[in-house]
Amino acid sequence: MIPVSLQRLPLAHSTQSMTDMADNEFPGIITGGGDLAAFLRANKAGVDAALDQAGALLFRGFDVADPAAFDAAIEGYGEPGFTYEDSLSNAVRTNVTPRVFTANEAPPATEIFLHHEMAQTPMFPAKLFFYCEIAPGSGGATPLCRSDWVLDRLIKQAPEFVARVQAEGVRYTNVMPDDDDAGSGQGRSWRSTLSVDNRTDAEARLAQLNYSWEWTGDGSLRATTPSLDAVRVLKDGRRSFFNQLIAAFRGWADSRNDPGRAITFGDGEAITQADMAPAIAIADELTFDLNWQAGDVALIDNFAVMHGRRPFEGKRRVLASLIA
Ligand code: FE2
Repeated sequence: MIPVSLQRLPLAHSTQSMTDMADNEFPGIITGGGDLAAFLRANKAGVDAALDQAGALLFRGFDVADPAAFDAAIEGYGEPGFTYEDSLSNAVRTNVTPRVFTANEAPPATEIFLHHEMAQTPMFPAKLFFYCEIAPGSGGATPLCRSDWVLDRLIKQAPEFVARVQAEGVRYTNVMPDDDDAGSGQGRSWRSTLSVDNRTDAEARLAQLNYSWEWTGDGSLRATTPSLDAVRVLKDGRRSFFNQLIAAFRGWADSRNDPGRAITFGDGEAITQADMAPAIAIADELTFDLNWQAGDVALIDNFAVMHGRRPFEGKRRVLASLIA
């Protein structure tokens, strides 16, 4: 059995003790030493059992000196990757090794709000790995939040909202630039997002995905998803607030995107500030800030746990890899 230490850690925005929320520890901390790739290869079943319980695991104290060692650790874990090129992610990223890429390259002062990776698209990874190569000078934590806990609380506070998004699903509208805009967290060009190089092929891909769209005067593409699930049943029967509503509503702001137009119910009616306020408040309260140390690796269940990025100053290099 692997040594998953059961530490009690303070939440980011709360003095509330973890003890009155759930029996589960969050995140699970696995402290160790030596080669993480070998550890993951030897302890895959134990790691997965710990991940199922905690939703997120932090591996601290192992020897993960560089991106190549991180790539090797992912290979040691042994599950197939979900490639950024094939995804419909909105974020600008760069591959560092075959399985490792930069996390969202939005400017340091930009907060990336809580989300499930790519839940605003029909294709999303099951798990995420993060690796801290360079710890930030100040700020730059990765906030983590259990979406099953959020949903439990939200059902009590806003039962009509939960019932409606569960019944209708939700739609996301995003305006993609003509060329990559690294100044925005939503800056990936429509060519890159859709893996095409002309408008005809872009429209064919959108039609295949059941999106609706319009071209704007500056060459950008405004695309709206079909109705996507906002609640997901996890494998043990728990349900999670699996969507991109908080990040889209709080953060999809740039020269092209208006967060007020980013999300609607499945029937097309706008989701308002009043609709979102309870979910945002609950998620903020239940958030744990992962403050990185160089060499840390985190493994996150994308169906159960939301993540984001706090603003930071100085250098920070956190790399990511997606598991299919
Ligand atoms: Fe993300």
